Amino acid sequence: MTGLSRSASPLSPPAPSGCFVTGTDTGVGKTVVMAALALCLRRRGVSVGVMKPVETGYGASSAGPSDGERLRACLAVDDPDAFMSPYQFAAPLAPLAAARQVGAVISLDRIAEAYGRLAARYRSVLVEGAGGLCVPLTDRDDMRDLIERLALPVVLVGRCALGGVNHALLTLEALQTRKILVLALVLNRPLPHQAASDADLQMASTVELLRERSGAPVLGPLPYVASLTEGGTAGVSELAHDPGIETLADLISRNGS
Ligand SMILES: Nc1ncnc2c1ncn2[C@@H]1O[C@H](COP(=O)(O)OP(=O)(O)OP(=O)(O)O)[C@@H](O)[C@H]1O
Ligand SMILES: [Mg+2]
Repeated sequence: MTGLSRSASPLSPPAPSGCFVTGTDTGVGKTVVMAALALCLRRRGVSVGVMKPVETGYGASSAGPSDGERLRACLAVDDPDAFMSPYQFAAPLAPLAAARQVGAVISLDRIAEAYGRLAARYRSVLVEGAGGLCVPLTDRDDMRDLIERLALPVVLVGRCALGGVNHALLTLEALQTRKILVLALVLNRPLPHQAASDADLQMASTVELLRERSGAPVLGPLPYVASLTEGGTAGVSELAHDPGIETLADLISRNGS
């Protein structure tokens, strides 16, 4: 475990608990899982802040609401963008490419400062990555460097379908090489059930193999919730009651206590 000590002197405020939500890929359900987790923690009386430090494709009408906007809508938080989403790039590219396109340089210091502002306000701060784990942020740093900088444990969201085993194990190995604590691997099902297909068997065997091989608590598979794709907040509220999300909230609370 790197930099995750939570010891505090009797005079210092309680260290915030939280996590960094990363994914095996883009579009696997990081925002949805993070929003549901935030609602679940809040229902338990924990004050929760959320952050999406680097947004790309920001403001494009075809892209729909940004992750920051979706999180705001679900959680009704009013923190300024400077804290919640310090970097917003219009280009729908990987963060470093989008930053380069406008001559910007992403600063981990600036992100850490924004995180610190939220950590001073909330008991728990949840941070969403962008894309997957090895996505570069600067000429030198990738998402793992940001995770280490924020000293947060990771929740990895993966797809519970064919290909999910390889993607999850590769990502976990990349975390292990940096000794980053993984609280859980959450398997999500962002696609509807297809009748007369191999999808159910593929899902069950993905869960089984990852339970055997991942070395991390495997949660889910979360259910497919059709209303999530409509972008409303009802689907997230429904998911916030799922046993997998409840267990995730237990793990976050236990780690932060
Ligand atoms: N369990 C689910 N049931 C139904 N739809 C889902 C589920 N999980 C995610 N989705 C839908 O899949 C899409 C991708 O989810 P989401 O935006 O959370 O992924 P992401 O990993 O945060 O993507 P990005 O890399 O762009 O940040 C969204 O339209 C979301 O509503
Ligand atoms: Mg997202």
